[in-house]
Amino acid sequence: MKRHLVSAADLTRDDALLILDTAEELTRVADRPIKKLPTLRGRTVVNLFFEDSTRTRISFEAAAKRLSADVINFSAKGSSVSKGESLKDTALTLEAMGADAVVIRHHDSGAPHRLATSGWIGGCVVNAGDGTHEHPTQALLDAFTLRRRLADGPRRGIGADLSGRRVTIVGDILHSRVARSNIHLLTTLGAEVTVVAPPTLLPVGIERWPCEVSYDLDAVLPKSDAVMMLRVQRERMNAAFFPTEREYARRYGLHGGRMARMPAHALVMHPGPMNRGMEITAEVADSPRCTAVEQVAGGVSVRMAVLYLLLGGAEPAVSTPRTEETQ
Ligand code: NCD
Repeated sequence: MKRHLVSAADLTRDDALLILDTAEELTRVADRPIKKLPTLRGRTVVNLFFEDSTRTRISFEAAAKRLSADVINFSAKGSSVSKGESLKDTALTLEAMGADAVVIRHHDSGAPHRLATSGWIGGCVVNAGDGTHEHPTQALLDAFTLRRRLADGPRRGIGADLSGRRVTIVGDILHSRVARSNIHLLTTLGAEVTVVAPPTLLPVGIERWPCEVSYDLDAVLPKSDAVMMLRVQRERMNAAFFPTEREYARRYGLHGGRMARMPAHALVMHPGPMNRGMEITAEVADSPRCTAVEQVAGGVSVRMAVLYLLLGGAEPAVSTPRTEETQ
């Protein structure tokens, strides 16, 4: 595995499976009375968030704490970044504090790559979402959820990839780092990906991406094992990309009637935050087929696995609990 996790494209099939299998082992920790492992004791993880986040920031914080790392949370609001401090000076400050891993979310595509290649910091860099570029741990947690839900048998998919699974990603592909990372990772794991969006919300050159493109959601639904709905990212839109919200919801939104077109086993996924009533109705969001909350839970295990593997834990990720811990 590479030293940093900047793009889902950096992961080979074996890397991805190692992360997913390690995450699977680590979910067992969540069922213990004491959820903490000593694995990263003495290590420092910095969460460097230049953009708003609920799920991702909390999830990385919980993951690092469950591995006993020291965690420093930094958000640009209220810091010297709002006084104009550059990424370089912020990075040098973190380096002076001895950060072993820097988890970065930034509004500029490429900021994590810059941090990983600049030599400003010695620790490893984990991309927690950069602009419209990538969000690799989101793709990993989505693959984790897919593999668990679609697997048969008690081992919940350990060692298995997603060969032959058909995943449909719907909505604002143009602005979605979640879609980009998922297209890389899901195809690496053998899945077939179809994207469905209005032509205005598809990136230029999409025909060269390893996915099918469709404009007809109703036609694709019956052939999907999972349908991933994306948020319409208004904060990244500087023009009108569709006529009205009603029109968007009518053509590309997932409502109960549409969900009924999906096979009985098929899942509805959403990375959150959801625009209820826009890309997804409340009826679908609250149905047992929607895995949005399960995705968040899996996110903690996946991020624990990433931090553990990147920080090169010499001990096994999960050791048998000591007697005093189990009593
Ligand atoms: C996504 C993100 O920030 O890219 N959310 C997340 O990380 N859970 C998707 C979004 O904002 O729509």
